[in-house]
Amino acid sequence: MVKRYKIGVLKGDGIGPEIVDAALHVLNALGIDAEFVELRAGYEYYKRFGKPLEEGFFDVAKKMDAILKGPLYTPPHEKEFKSINILIRKELDLYANVRPFKSFKGFSLKDFNFVIVRENSEDVYVGIEGLFKGTAISLRIITYEGAKRIAEYAFSYAKKNGFKKVTVVHKANVLKISDGLFRDVFFEVAKRYPDITAEEIIVDTAAYTIVRNPERLGVMVTPNLYGDILSDLAAAMVGSLGLCGSAQIGSDIAVFEPVHGTAPDIAGKGIANPIGEIEAAKLMLYYLYEKFDDADLHVKAKNLDKAIHTVVEDLKILTPDLGGTYKTVDVVNALVKVLNSEIHS
Ligand code: NAI
Repeated sequence: MVKRYKIGVLKGDGIGPEIVDAALHVLNALGIDAEFVELRAGYEYYKRFGKPLEEGFFDVAKKMDAILKGPLYTPPHEKEFKSINILIRKELDLYANVRPFKSFKGFSLKDFNFVIVRENSEDVYVGIEGLFKGTAISLRIITYEGAKRIAEYAFSYAKKNGFKKVTVVHKANVLKISDGLFRDVFFEVAKRYPDITAEEIIVDTAAYTIVRNPERLGVMVTPNLYGDILSDLAAAMVGSLGLCGSAQIGSDIAVFEPVHGTAPDIAGKGIANPIGEIEAAKLMLYYLYEKFDDADLHVKAKNLDKAIHTVVEDLKILTPDLGGTYKTVDVVNALVKVLNSEIHS
């Protein structure tokens, strides 16, 4: 089915607007037929308008086919300001955070292709904590339903994408009840996927393996906090946080964003690597292709993937995070040029 998509665009904070504009430029060059609807939220929005999200944000968001999002700033020093990312995940029920990590020749520390499927709604991110007479307490919530849903997602993702192995990451040797539940439910779900090997790994060993033997990994499924931390480690193995994108999947909608944050240290300088956001846009094209059976988007996503690797590996149009001196706009122009030559070849 071919249709005109409605894509929500949340530019976010810090480098967000720079990299989201870059991704929109590339989507345009690919000839994506879409109405882009701007959604406004963020810390900068809050400073200007006194509220974190615009009126009716979720009503509009829920009508979109997908949302392309930039990173949002959460100030650690302002205790009253709650993470908008977590609010969005809760409200749109984005339970799976899918982060593919594929090596770039000449930049990554090893040759690998693995995916972290991070449970995206539970764990310590439920934000229930308090300070009682000098003792800080945080609740870590793992539910049977949440663990089952994410395990099912990880296995079906592995099956669809040709991975032979799914590994559950936990610390059930210490957290016997909470991580124990996450682990046990995983193996219960695994029984329904006899063609896929189900393995387990303790989270510290997972960190070690990502660095030492990432080529051994397939799909990893993790509770929320471990997935958050391991993702940045995996991004370092890829070569830069600025190269990695992610998909936050819900039952009705999905939100696509880079793995990295708002990078306040380089915001406004025009040197942010836009590829993480463009990778997110690519994941969005795959998602829309699957959801609406739009084969043209599959071709476009593949072309984009090829173009990204050409620009980084062969043409070496690199921003400073990759050791280059090029600007965001140079990467975008190079990508558009490669895409145009692919289209006309
Ligand atoms: P960060 O990921 O923003 O930056 C870490 C380092 O990576 C910095 O040196 C930064 O310059 C570099 N970096 C990140 N993205 C880059 C890019 N595209 N190109 C070149 N270099 C890049 O992490 P940080 O500084 O700890 O977090 C800043 C803010 O971002 C925090 O408020 C945090 O809460 C927020 N954040 C938001 C996320 C989201 O919206 N999904 C995810 C992670 C963090």
